[in-house]
Amino acid sequence: MSPASSSGSATPSAELVRLTVAVAVDDAALAVATLAPRLGGCREREVAGTTLLDFWSAPGSVPDSARISDALADVGVACRIGAADDPVDWRAALRSFHRPVEVGPLRLRPPWEPTTPDLLDLVIDPGMAFGTGQHATTHGCLELLVDRPPGPVLDIGCGSGVLAIAAARLGHAPVRAIDNDPEAVAATAANAAANGVSVDVRLEVAGAEPLPAAALVLANLTLTDLVAVAPFLHAPGAVIASGVRDHEVAVLADALAPRGLAASRTVARDGWAAVLFEAGP
Ligand SMILES: C[S@@+](CC[C@H](N)C(=O)[O-])C[C@H]1O[C@@H](n2cnc3c(N)ncnc32)[C@H](O)[C@@H]1O
Repeated sequence: MSPASSSGSATPSAELVRLTVAVAVDDAALAVATLAPRLGGCREREVAGTTLLDFWSAPGSVPDSARISDALADVGVACRIGAADDPVDWRAALRSFHRPVEVGPLRLRPPWEPTTPDLLDLVIDPGMAFGTGQHATTHGCLELLVDRPPGPVLDIGCGSGVLAIAAARLGHAPVRAIDNDPEAVAATAANAAANGVSVDVRLEVAGAEPLPAAALVLANLTLTDLVAVAPFLHAPGAVIASGVRDHEVAVLADALAPRGLAASRTVARDGWAAVLFEAGP
């Protein structure tokens, strides 16, 4: 059972095993994106310059550490893994850090939080793949998205679907979303349905062939993926890109310049940058 699932039969106070995956701070977003589809949601902590990702499992279904380190090694992330019995009420732990996030007119909330009048409601189950809106990279994209005029949108690497669903909530249409992970595609479809919005989501690897046309592209990936995807963009009017550290923005700008796109606004948060690139006149 996914420890982050909001429904399930485990007793909240039952003793669980906490698996802690320690990675470099710069690798945290990639590590979460890689592990979330396999392990569900996690708690993220920064301790002494290292990011610790806590995943909870029932004693009989603890994920194999070697598989976790292999999955991270495949994406170039080194890690240390520790396990400990944990009498913690993991649901309470998850609830304590999955708080509602408000960005402009949007309010993103986990399913157990009530709606708020006057804000555009968006429910994301944190157990369902990367992207509750809390991570600095997602938050930065949302801050840039809320100011964009409505139009066709393509979300590359949709994860839980948070950005695509937010775009649809803000009136953008049509909204297409792609991800190379089947679990992310399923999560986006489920979350779009739960939010009553229309998102055309497909399993697709970006960076291999021309991408669908869209006025606005959302891409919260890694620098490597963003650079690989850039040549396949279909003349978007604007791109909101994130998943890069502050010092990587120049490399990203170089990759998008041949597409006629230049950086016009940057949101910096916790060392991460989300950048709006716009097509020149
Ligand atoms: C950091 S998560 C972002 C999720 C969500 N868009 C957000 O902002 O919270 C990156 C997502 O991109 C997907 N991804 C990575 N490389 C990709 C590629 N080349 N093509 C399609 N999806 C990709 C991953 O599976 C993951 O779901």
